[in-house]
Amino acid sequence: MSAATFRMAVVRDPGGPRPIDLIEVPVIEPGPGEIRVEVAGATVNPVDLAVAGGFFHSLGLINQPDRTGLGWDFAGTVAAAGPGVDVAVGTRVAGLIAGLDRDFGPYAEQLVVSAADVAVVPDGLDLVAAATVPLNALTAAQIMDLLGDAPADGDRLLVTGAAGAVGAYVVSLATDRGWRVTGLARAQDEEFVRGLGADFTTAAEPGWDAVADGGVFQERGVALVRDGGRFVGVQPAVMPAAERGITVVAVSAHPDGPRLAGLLARTVSGELPARVHAVVPLDQVADAHREVAKGGLRGRYVLVP
Ligand SMILES: NC(=O)c1ccc[n+]([C@@H]2O[C@H](COP(=O)([O-])OP(=O)(O)OC[C@H]3O[C@@H](n4cnc5c(N)ncnc54)[C@H](OP(=O)(O)O)[C@@H]3O)[C@@H](O)[C@H]2O)c1
Repeated sequence: MSAATFRMAVVRDPGGPRPIDLIEVPVIEPGPGEIRVEVAGATVNPVDLAVAGGFFHSLGLINQPDRTGLGWDFAGTVAAAGPGVDVAVGTRVAGLIAGLDRDFGPYAEQLVVSAADVAVVPDGLDLVAAATVPLNALTAAQIMDLLGDAPADGDRLLVTGAAGAVGAYVVSLATDRGWRVTGLARAQDEEFVRGLGADFTTAAEPGWDAVADGGVFQERGVALVRDGGRFVGVQPAVMPAAERGITVVAVSAHPDGPRLAGLLARTVSGELPARVHAVVPLDQVADAHREVAKGGLRGRYVLVP
């Protein structure tokens, strides 16, 4: 990296055979309320594959003429702080950039982000592991906001994709809110899901008071909810239809620095999982996407600039 530029991975040809390019872009200084982070790790999540594959461009949700930024969650070190920011240079932080329609993202050497959207990474949690927390733990916490506390007339929650990133966090957080949780996952995930404190199934019958759909079952997930129950999906852009008086909503993950601080504290204590499958250099981003696309991973690829 030269003094005045940094490297960033972007989508130049969404849906094309080589959608991702590494480019050099000018360093920008943080504005009021912002920090510049030297990225130590950026997590590869399923949404990034959908961006590179052109899914959101085809829905009209991304309209970037030149390049689309990649990545949502990251961890790194504060390199500069803008006016009004009381965070020391060198502080270790993790955070989340939400939204799809942007020309920058954490798949980069540097990132300018609102200081309110990051949390300090506690001692004892390395930055690569911390990078895997923000998107999926906050999504799960925000799913729990949508589900609410277990009602008196029915507390049986089915979490589909319970061994996945979002699903495992929902399993971990739902018991706090009084739900009796069953995780639906592959047969080989039984030990992991039970280890989170949930019952386990590979194939659920209908009749659940609520379904949290980390496995993206969509209509098949709604069909598992009892009449008048609740369904929380993970795909706000393509919502399944409501039926039989069921409340159908979908989460849209958004940054929340203070809440992330609590989730990181629960990670360093071992209460919440931090699952890293592999750490790869940023310039191998295309290989990482190809591996993630094969499916079946139980942990994240983290890109290191
Ligand atoms: N709306 C938002 O703000 C938001 C935020 C975060 C994530 N998301 C979305 O949420 C979804 C889940 O994300 P994630 O990161 O948790 O993905 P993930 O880690 O791949 O988890 C999905 C899990 O579902 C499992 N699964 C799928 N079909 C199954 C079946 N029939 N039986 C049992 N298990 C099944 C998968 O197992 P296999 O790997 O074996 O198939 C995997 O373990 C993605 O679509 C992501 O884009 C949305």
